[in-house]
Amino acid sequence: MNIEGNSGGRLDLAGKHIVLGLTGGVACFKAAELARSLIKAGATVQVVMTQAAEQFITAVTMQALSSRNVYTSQWDARESNNMAHINLTRDADAVLVAPASADFMAKLVHGRADDLLSLLCLARPVASCALLLAPAMNREMWAHPATQRNVAQLRADGAVLLGPASGDQACGEVGDGRMLEAQELLDELIAFFQPKALLGKRVLLTAGPTFEAIDPVRGMTNLSSGKMGFAIARAAAEAGAQVTLVAGPVHLDTPRGVRRIDVMSAQQMFDAVLPLAPASHVFVATAAVADWRVAKAAAHKIKKKAGAAVPALELEENPDILAAVARLKPPPYCVGFAAESENLVQHAREKLQRKNLPLIVANIGPATFGSDLNSLTLIDTNGTRELARADKLTLARELVREIAARTAHVST
Ligand code: C5P
Repeated sequence: MNIEGNSGGRLDLAGKHIVLGLTGGVACFKAAELARSLIKAGATVQVVMTQAAEQFITAVTMQALSSRNVYTSQWDARESNNMAHINLTRDADAVLVAPASADFMAKLVHGRADDLLSLLCLARPVASCALLLAPAMNREMWAHPATQRNVAQLRADGAVLLGPASGDQACGEVGDGRMLEAQELLDELIAFFQPKALLGKRVLLTAGPTFEAIDPVRGMTNLSSGKMGFAIARAAAEAGAQVTLVAGPVHLDTPRGVRRIDVMSAQQMFDAVLPLAPASHVFVATAAVADWRVAKAAAHKIKKKAGAAVPALELEENPDILAAVARLKPPPYCVGFAAESENLVQHAREKLQRKNLPLIVANIGPATFGSDLNSLTLIDTNGTRELARADKLTLARELVREIAARTAHVST
């Protein structure tokens, strides 16, 4: 996913001040991109490097990217009170150590403070300045009981671990211990600062179109990029929910922390959703489900023959996934979507009643298909609420806040 392209102009970290700590590791090269992307998201970034980090990347690079002096020593005389270890975190919202080496984490566990970065981690005001660690090390180092013990202790002490990922390592081995990519760390940090309005809730969603086969190479589908549904899945995960996203055929990355089940047809979507729905607190149906399918899809490609009649397709109705979930006793909190081309509120209100839903979200379909922008109308039996035109993630976060407020009384 590209760092510039996916924010729709949002500044998700506006007003946030981040101390970006670098410790020794090859993954320091990713910290350069990370600094840049944090700043693009609206944050101010103060880089602090250990001596070992300076073996991998220069302070010059990090200064140029962050537009601030880089600190590398607790004896830095540029601070008038000579207390960089205090000053640097007093207006910071978080210290993000990326990469965090095995040695640095071991140091933190013991409260050791013999260099500027470990010193400022220990001296930071814990109530206002979170500590996030992005481990980066060889898989054997990560799996070692000493590291695992340290990780457990760091979590118990309130640190948030981001990753590590699994995959190819600089040493040539393959396994757990890679630092997350800059984009993944950015998404994690943005999520960290979102209010946890759905903590402990299980949210199930459908998104994208369905594809109904005519034969092995042809089919019927609806226009839907899946972007709105994926944005809601991301927003729900950011709000602390356990999210399962049942997706039709779309070309979108799975939001971090979201469990994704890929399906093609409406029947497959139905079969994936129904067993999960009873244990879900919230069900959001954004999928553009095909109303009909071909009654008997051909096993082999239907051949075009000169002069032969055009094939006639017999259609049969697909199951209504949302209506079926809303009929459960008790149902999860069901949110429907209505993409209309005219008479938005009237058509949406009809769906609200027909499917027996507490809430439906209406939008003008052709105006939003494939776009990063949308505007939504929330409709329930009491009235309507407009969410003004914005990028889909901003709207998704507002919708998630609304759903959270409406389901706050439901126990988890
Ligand atoms: O039935 P209609 O397409 O008018 O309603 C749209 C809403 O119902 C959307 O939330 C859509 O995801 C859901 N739906 C469904 N299963 C269908 C048709 C629509 O879940 N077969």
